[in-house]
Amino acid sequence: MAEASRRVLIVGSGGREHALAWKLAADGAEVFTAPGNAGTAAVGTNLDCAATDIPALVRHAGEQGIDLTVVGPEAPLVAGIADAFVSAGLRIFGPSRAAARIEGSKLFCKQILRRGDVPTGMFESFSGPARAREFIEAREEVPVVVKADGLAAGKGVFVCNDRATALAAIDALAADPVLSRGGILIEERLDGVEVSVMAITDGRTIVTLPPVQDHKAAFDGDTGPNTGGMGAYSPTPFVGADQLAEIESRILVPTVHAMRRAKVSFQGVLFAGLMLTAQGPKVLEFNARFGDPECQTLLSLLDSSLWELLDAAASRRLEEVDPPAWRQGAAVTVVMASEGYPGAVTKGLPIRGLGAAAAVPGVHVFHAATRGAGGAVFSDGGRTIAVTGVDETLARAKLRAYTAVREIRWPGAWCRKDIADKGLHEERARAAAAGDSA
Ligand code: AMP
Ligand code: GLY
Repeated sequence: MAEASRRVLIVGSGGREHALAWKLAADGAEVFTAPGNAGTAAVGTNLDCAATDIPALVRHAGEQGIDLTVVGPEAPLVAGIADAFVSAGLRIFGPSRAAARIEGSKLFCKQILRRGDVPTGMFESFSGPARAREFIEAREEVPVVVKADGLAAGKGVFVCNDRATALAAIDALAADPVLSRGGILIEERLDGVEVSVMAITDGRTIVTLPPVQDHKAAFDGDTGPNTGGMGAYSPTPFVGADQLAEIESRILVPTVHAMRRAKVSFQGVLFAGLMLTAQGPKVLEFNARFGDPECQTLLSLLDSSLWELLDAAASRRLEEVDPPAWRQGAAVTVVMASEGYPGAVTKGLPIRGLGAAAAVPGVHVFHAATRGAGGAVFSDGGRTIAVTGVDETLARAKLRAYTAVREIRWPGAWCRKDIADKGLHEERARAAAAGDSA
C-alpha cells in the first residue's frame, strides 16, 4: 500500500520537541521544526520562526505542504494556535484555545474537575488579594497551597505550611506585575507521592500512556527551587496496572467527558499531575501537552508508531487505531542544565562529548536548548541536554543514562544525580515486603 505523505511540523525548541522529531522521523515522517534546536536540525529542517508566532507558523505549514502540525509547549496552545490552523484548513495535534484553558486557568480546571466529579483537593477562589487574606486569617492554621490562576511557568505556586507563609505568598502574587493579573486560588495541601499520567485523546477515545515520575526540584533529595523538571523515569512502581486503570476510569475519562459536555472537546495530550494520597490519586493540575522531560522518557519506550496515534487523534478517529506497543523494561531521562538554572543562565558555551554519549548503547541524547554553528553545538538555555537510558530494569536504565551523561561537558553543566532513586527504593521496599510475606 502506498503510504500517504507524512510531512510534519513540530512547534517548539526543547528536548520534548527533539524527541517528537526523532520518533516521528523514525516513523517515516519528513520533519520540520519551528524554531527547533541543533538536535532537531540533524533530524529534519529547522524553520526560523518563534513557537508563538502563529500567523507565521500557519504560513510555513501552508508553504511546506505540512500534513500534520504537532505542538510541544503550552504558550501557543493557550494563545489559540489550534484554532488558527483549523480555520486555515490545516490539521493540528493539540487542543483549541478554549480546551487549553485546562492548563491556562487553574480555576477553569477545578470547574471541569467538579463537573466530572474527579478527585482533587478542596479549593476556594478569590478575585483579588484582600479576600484571599481574609480567608486565611479567619481560618484555622492548616497547610495550604496558594496559586495564581493563569499560566505562570512554575512560578505561581506556593506550598505553605502555616498562616504567615500563606499571607506572604498572597502578598508576593499581588506584587508581581504578571501574576497579579488573574485571580488567586487557595487549595488544600495534598500529601503523598507525585506522578504524571498522560493520555492522547481525540475528545472521545483515550489512549493512556505508562505512568512517569518527574523530579521538579532543582537539587538532589528534592531540595532547591522548582524547575520545569530535572529528570523522569517510567514506568514507576508507585502506579501498578490496577491503579493505572483506576486513574484512567476515575480521572482521565471523566475529565474528557466533562470537557465535551462543557462544549470544549479536548484533542491532544491530556497530562494529569497527580498526588497519590492516602485516599487515592487526586489531581494537582492538568497540562494540555506532553510533559518535558516525560515525553523523552515515554517516546524512548514506544515501539509502535507515534505518527499513527497523533494523526488519528487529530482526525478524531483514535478508536480505529491499535493500542500502542511498549518496550519491556524502563527508561530514565537525566536533564543536564546550564549554570544558574532555574535563574538566569550563561549561553553560547561549546558542548563536547555528544557523539561519545550517543554511542553508549541503549542511550538517546536529546537536545533541549542548543544552537549549531560551524559544525559545533553551543548551549542556548537552562535545561540544555536530556539524556535517556533504556534497559530491561530501572537500575540498568539509570546506569546507562548516567554513563552517557559523564561524556557530555560544557563549563558549568550540572545535573541531579538521583533521578529514578525514589522508584528504585520503592522497588526494593516492595521486594522486601513480598519476601517477608512469602
Ligand atoms: P502546579 O503548577 O499546580 O503543578 O504546582 C507545582 C507543584 O506544586 C506541583 O508539582 C506540586 O509539587 C506542588 N503542588 C501543587 N498543588 C499542590 C497541592 N494541592 N498540594 C501539594 N502540593 C501541591
Ligand atoms: N515536567 C513537567 C511539565 O512538563 O510540566
